[in-house]
Parts: sequence; structure tokens; C-alpha cells
Amino acid sequence: MRAPSSVAAATALLLLATPATAQLHKLAVQAGLRYFGAATDTPHQRERAPYPESYPQYDAILANNDEFGQTTPTNGQKWLFTEPAPRLFNFTEGDYVADLAASQGKLLRCHALVWHSQLAPWVEETNWTAPALADAIERHIRAVAGYYRGRCHAWDVVNEALDEDGSYRQSIFYRVLGEEYLRLAFRAAAAADPDAKLYYNDYGIERPTSPKTAGALRLVKMLKDAGLRVDGVGMQAHLHADNHPSAEDLIATSEAYAELVDEVAFTELDVRIKLPVDEQKLQWQKECYQKVVTACVKVKACVGITLWDFYDPFSWVPHVFPNNGASLLWFEDFSKHPAYDGIIETFKSLIAEAEEQPKRRSLGWRA
Ligand code: XIL
Repeated sequence: MRAPSSVAAATALLLLATPATAQLHKLAVQAGLRYFGAATDTPHQRERAPYPESYPQYDAILANNDEFGQTTPTNGQKWLFTEPAPRLFNFTEGDYVADLAASQGKLLRCHALVWHSQLAPWVEETNWTAPALADAIERHIRAVAGYYRGRCHAWDVVNEALDEDGSYRQSIFYRVLGEEYLRLAFRAAAAADPDAKLYYNDYGIERPTSPKTAGALRLVKMLKDAGLRVDGVGMQAHLHADNHPSAEDLIATSEAYAELVDEVAFTELDVRIKLPVDEQKLQWQKECYQKVVTACVKVKACVGITLWDFYDPFSWVPHVFPNNGASLLWFEDFSKHPAYDGIIETFKSLIAEAEEQPKRRSLGWRA
């Protein structure tokens, strides 16, 4: 390592001393990422229904593209909402976030075409033959990805197809079609939206040694070997403050995916805390967010980071993991978590480091 020049050191100090205001996406882009974003949902729905008084402040933060340059609908494009009855398509919910992205000039990640959860009940209730379910999946993808054609930077084509041990999840899709459903989903998505990046997306695939990561690598390789287009792997990154992966681990995992696909992304980042919140846990949370940022900046293939919403009261975490919460970057009173400043500091020091080492594996190649 070369000693930093005094100019670079002074720049770094100045950068680090600047107070953090509305700049996650801005700094992410300076650091070489394509985006830093936050998922969002239709007002008055689900988690956010009880908090209408917080919408104006929430909307103002989300609207600032220096903060969030990308968004994903947390719910509206899922099968339950887009095809609630056979051949009955409804894009009202999905359109809310897609239109918001378009009107604000944010990049849109689309989520999710084939997923065992939040599936329309009729899909699970039908007594399928294999050809009939294959038709239903193809029709669904053709209709939904076709409707959003040209608007999605990326599609999560298949979401959460794996069990914890890396074997295939016994979803209705797998039980009826075996792994053929994965192939036909990617084939149909490529036909329906040729310009969208096609992703396999899952949780618990962030650590290099986990069997589920091995499963994700196998799954993607199987698709590629079948001649199908798979452009990206999405690591959801629903992480835990008190037991999180190291930056080195996140880098190693991302690099392993990048041997198979062009891009990787952290698609649903949140870092849950076991309640009650205290300073130690907020510190662990900050370190976890910083490690994800470090990994994404250091891995050439990592295009961006999406928070799974940004305001604690709108998070899914307390609804699904009892006694867990405070997983995002804004507390209920709209003050920021220490992790927010931590992320800003990390971006700034990585930018300064790259400026200091232009000849090393720096940010220049991204331009
Ligand atoms: C969650 C939403 O945030 C909740 O509003 C909903 O009730 C359940 O689903 N993995 C995924 C996301 O891929 O779609 C899930 O989103 C969180 C876990």
C-alpha cells in the first residue's frame, strides 16, 4: 500500500467531515455503482396503512433522487395482485410504483414473476397437469413482463426457489414441473422483455460457504448450461445486526456469482435488530450496512443496493419476525439511524481511496 498523498488525505478528511444530507444515491454513483435505491409500496396498504400522517415527510425523502435513484415495488407486481384470478390481470398496484419511478426519473427494478409466496390462491388450489401449469406460468410472465416491457431495468424472474440446504423448494411449481419451471420462466421472461436484466433472486445466499449459496450457483449454472439468458443474481440481504457477514464474505460470494452472470445486486437490504434497540445493536447494524456498501463498491459486477423500504414503521420485519425491528435507516420520528452516516462515511472513504489509487482496481473502469 502506498502512503496517501497529503492532498488526498486532506480531501478525505474534508469529505468525512461534511454532514450527511440526502446523498446515498449521489455518492453511490460517484463510487461507481449504478444506483442506491429503496423499495416502496402503494399508500394505505399493508404495513403503511396505520401511518397516513407520515406520508408527506416520507414522500419527500423518497422523491429526492440524490437519496434514492432507484425503486422496486415491495408488493404490487406479485402474482397475487397482477393475476388474482386466471387470465384476470390487474396492474393498479404495480403501476403505482412503476409510475412513481417514471415520473421521478428513478431506475425501476421489477419484482417478482414466479414466487411461491403471495401467489394467487387459484394457482395453489388448481389440480395441475404439467403442461397446464407450464402454460399458466408462461401466460403470466408474457402478460406481466409484457405489460411492463421497456420499463424495468431488471426483473426478478424467479424468487426464492431454494430451501435452506440448497435443494429446490417444494413449491407448487417444483412439485408439478421439477426444475423445468425455472427454464421456462427465464425463457418466457427473455421473450416478453428483451431489454430487462433477468435475475435469480433469493435470501440467505450472501455467505460464500452456505449450502444455499451453493444451490444458487448450481441453479444459475443449470439455466446457463441450458442456453438461457440469466443476467444477474440478486442477494436479498435481509440481514441481522448481531450476526452478519463480513465484507470479505460478501465480496467472495458476489465474485462467485459474477463468474456466471454479468451483474449482482443487493436487492432487499435491511438489517434487523432484536428489540429493544440499544447503542451497541445500532453500532452492529451500522457496521453491517457499511460492509454491504464496501462489498458492492469493490465488486465490479455489483450494480447497486436497494433497501427494502427506508422508514422503520413501513418495514415488513416486525410483522414477520416477532421482537425484531428497527431494520431500516429512518426511525419512526424521521431521525436517522447511525447506519445512515456510516454508509455515507463508507462511500466517501471508498471514493477517496479510489482517487488515491487510480491505477489499482479503481472506479475508473465503470465509467
Ligand atoms: C414482503 C413485503 O415487504 C411485505 O409487505 C409483504 O407482506 C410480504 O413480502 N422476500 C421478498 C419480498 O422477495 O417480496 C418480501 O416482501 C420480503 C422477503
